[in-house]
Amino acid sequence: MATATEKTFYLETFGCQMNAHDSEKVIGTLLNQGYRQVQTEEEANLILYNTCSIRDKAEQKVFHRLNDYKALYKAGKRFGVLGCVAQQEGEKIFERAPYVSLVSGSASYRKLPEMLARLEAGEGRITGLDDRQTEETFETEFTARQNPYRGYITIIEGCDKFCAYCVVPYTRGKERSRTSGSVLEEARRIADLGYTEIQLLGQNVNSYRDPDGKMSFAELLAAVGQVPGIRRVRFTTSHPRDFTRDIVEAIDAYPTLCDHVHLPVQSGSSRVLKAMAREYSSDWYLERISWLKAARRQISLSTDIIVGFPGETDEDFIQTMNLLAQVEYDCVFAFKYSARPNTPALVMIDSIPEAEKAKRLQVLLDRQREIQRSNYAKHIGQTMEVMVEGQNPARAQVAARSSQNKSVNVNWAKPIAPAPGSYMQVRITASHPNSLVAEPA
Ligand code: 5AD
Ligand code: SF4
Repeated sequence: MATATEKTFYLETFGCQMNAHDSEKVIGTLLNQGYRQVQTEEEANLILYNTCSIRDKAEQKVFHRLNDYKALYKAGKRFGVLGCVAQQEGEKIFERAPYVSLVSGSASYRKLPEMLARLEAGEGRITGLDDRQTEETFETEFTARQNPYRGYITIIEGCDKFCAYCVVPYTRGKERSRTSGSVLEEARRIADLGYTEIQLLGQNVNSYRDPDGKMSFAELLAAVGQVPGIRRVRFTTSHPRDFTRDIVEAIDAYPTLCDHVHLPVQSGSSRVLKAMAREYSSDWYLERISWLKAARRQISLSTDIIVGFPGETDEDFIQTMNLLAQVEYDCVFAFKYSARPNTPALVMIDSIPEAEKAKRLQVLLDRQREIQRSNYAKHIGQTMEVMVEGQNPARAQVAARSSQNKSVNVNWAKPIAPAPGSYMQVRITASHPNSLVAEPA
C-alpha cells in the first residue's frame, strides 16, 4: 500500500509499439525520479495514460478511461495524459477533463523530469506540446524494459510523409534519426542485458538517415545483426517509398535478420494511393514485393490496409482484393477509414456509408483468412527454431514465435516450461489461419 508521501505511478499504454517503447522510457525516467510503479489506478498518486489517436475509436477509449477514474481525483490523485491524444488535443484536454494536470506529446518527453518537478510542487495545467519541430530524439539511459524477450530500439522518431489520412506527422512531429553509433551502443547494451532479440522501431523505420552519414538503413540492419549475442533482428514499420533493394540483400546476407517484412500498402488502387498521398503506385509496390519474394529465404509478408477511404469505388476495392490475392500475406491489419483532425483527408467527403465500409472490411478479412489458412498449412511437417514468449498452462502449451513472426503453440506436458527468451527446435504438426501447433523436436 502506498503511503501518503510516497511517489507512486500507474501507467497504461495504448496504441503502437512506438508507444509501448516510449512507455518503457517514461517508466525508467519516473523510477529514476524516485517514483515506484504500481499496478492499479487506486494505488497510485500519479495516473498516466500514454495515448493513441490513430483512429477515432482509439481516442475515445482514452476519454472513457479518464472518465471512469475521475472520482479518484477527489482522493488527491493527479492525472497526466501523454502521447498522441495529448499532442493532438493539447490544452483542450484540460477543458474536457479538468482533473488532468499534465499533457505532453512524445516530442517533449526529454523534459519530463522538469515537468514532474512542477507537478510535485503543486502546479496544474503543465504542458509539453511545443517540441514538434525539434531535431532531438528522446534517448535515456534509464529505459525500464518491460518485455522479457524483446529489446526495442527507436532509431527514427516522427514522420514527414503526411499521408492524407494520418495524424502521426502532427502528433509525433518532424522526422529525426539517431546516430548509428548511438543505436549500435544501445544494441550492445541490450545484448549485455541478456536479450537476443532486437526490434528496431520507427514510424518509417527504413526512412532512417544517419545524422553522422556513416550508415544506410540496410547497413545499420546488418551491423545490428552482427552484434555479439543477438540472434534475431526485427524492424517496423517500413514505408514502401523508401524500401530499397539493399534491405533484401541484407536479409539474404545475415541470417540473424528475421525473414519477415511488414510493408503497409494501404490500398491496391493506384488512384486511391494517389489520393492518399502515398507517393507510389500499386505496380511500384508490387515490384518491391517481387524483390522480397526473390530472396533466398522465404520472407513472410504482412501489411496494413485502409478500406473506405473517401472516394474509394467498388472497382478500387476490387483492386485491393486482387493485390491481396497476388501477394498472399501472412498477416493483414485492416481498418475502416476514420476521419482525423488536422489531416488533409478531412476536407475530402467521407462519402462511403459506415455499413459499406464494414462490408468491405468483412469481405477482405474473410478472403485473407482463407489465404492465411493455406499459407500456414504449408508449414506442417517442417522443423523450425522458435523463441519462447510465455506459457499457457491451461492448455499445456508454450507460446512461441518463429523467425517469420508466426505464433507457434508448442505442446508441453512437462511441469516446468522453458523461460521466455529461450529457443527450441520444434516440428509443426497442425495449423490455423493465425497460428501453428508444434511438438518439441
Ligand atoms: N483511418 C483508418 N486507419 C488508419 N491508419 C492510419 N490512419 C488511419 C485512419 N485515419 C492505419 C494505417 C496505418 C496503421 C497504423 O493504421 O493502415 O498503417
Ligand atoms: Fe497511435 Fe500512431 Fe501515435 Fe502510434 S504513432 S500511438 S499508432 S497515433
